[in-house]
Amino acid sequence: MKTVLITGCSSGFGRDTARHFLDRDWNVIATMRTPREDVLPRSAQLRVLPLDVTDPQSITDAVDAAGPIDVLVNNAGIGVLNALEGTTMDIVRTVFETNTQGTIAMTRAVLPQFRERRAGRIVNVTSSVTLKPLPLLSVYTASKAAINAFTESLALELQPFHVRVNLVLPGRAPHTAFGDNARSLMHEGFPPPYADFAQRIFAQLQQSSAITLSQDVAEAVWRAVNDPSCPLRIPAGADAVAVAEAL
Ligand SMILES: NC(=O)c1ccc[n+]([C@@H]2O[C@H](COP(=O)([O-])OP(=O)(O)OC[C@H]3O[C@@H](n4cnc5c(N)ncnc54)[C@H](OP(=O)(O)O)[C@@H]3O)[C@@H](O)[C@H]2O)c1
Repeated sequence: MKTVLITGCSSGFGRDTARHFLDRDWNVIATMRTPREDVLPRSAQLRVLPLDVTDPQSITDAVDAAGPIDVLVNNAGIGVLNALEGTTMDIVRTVFETNTQGTIAMTRAVLPQFRERRAGRIVNVTSSVTLKPLPLLSVYTASKAAINAFTESLALELQPFHVRVNLVLPGRAPHTAFGDNARSLMHEGFPPPYADFAQRIFAQLQQSSAITLSQDVAEAVWRAVNDPSCPLRIPAGADAVAVAEAL
């Protein structure tokens, strides 16, 4: 039986991806900053471990406690929606430490075992905003676009070791905790000169009916892991697929 370790399982895509793999008889190591046993159904195949992807000791402890794994899903992430002028450098650092360095650090931590076994899969969850730019998301988009570039280069260097790396690019998923978590980083709101512009952008976003569901992301991760012929980049969700097809 195969084992997947997923980051950021307390809610949203991570939680539903963990469920998807549990339902298909995988061993799942669901990691959370604050471990909770009530997020996922009880199962002999489930282990919940603490992991903060910005903390090197936490990464070492989680990877050691997990033991051998077959798949790593780098899902943990935070959003920030604001004009750059309304985004402090502390917030920029937090976003990059989580979305970019967190993904890179987790990948480094599991690579020795994958390389030695000449097998393993890594799936990095980025975003469809890296395919089609949107305003007020410059820092978030940069943190995720860096992971797209990282993944594409890494995929080439890991080919000789039969380790595969994929990207899953979800569209907008208003039903996860992502929006609320992003709002918590907007202490001061939009800088006044950007307020009208931001209102217009919000109104446009509400009008778009195509969205992404957690299940779309879980299925895309499943495909990345189990379909050897799938492309490196997999859009997830009706809106993300439409953006990718229009390129
Ligand atoms: N929702 C969207 O519209 C959307 C669209 C495209 C891409 N994405 C990406 O998809 C991924 C999942 O998002 P989601 O929509 O499922 O959002 P979510 O419900 O907010 O889930 C994000 C998860 O990441 C965890 N996390 C945050 N910082 C962490 C850290 N330092 N260490 C470990 N875990 C951490 C959160 O844990 P806590 O509970 O401890 O905060 C939570 O479990 C993210 O990478 C996000 O950027 C989301």
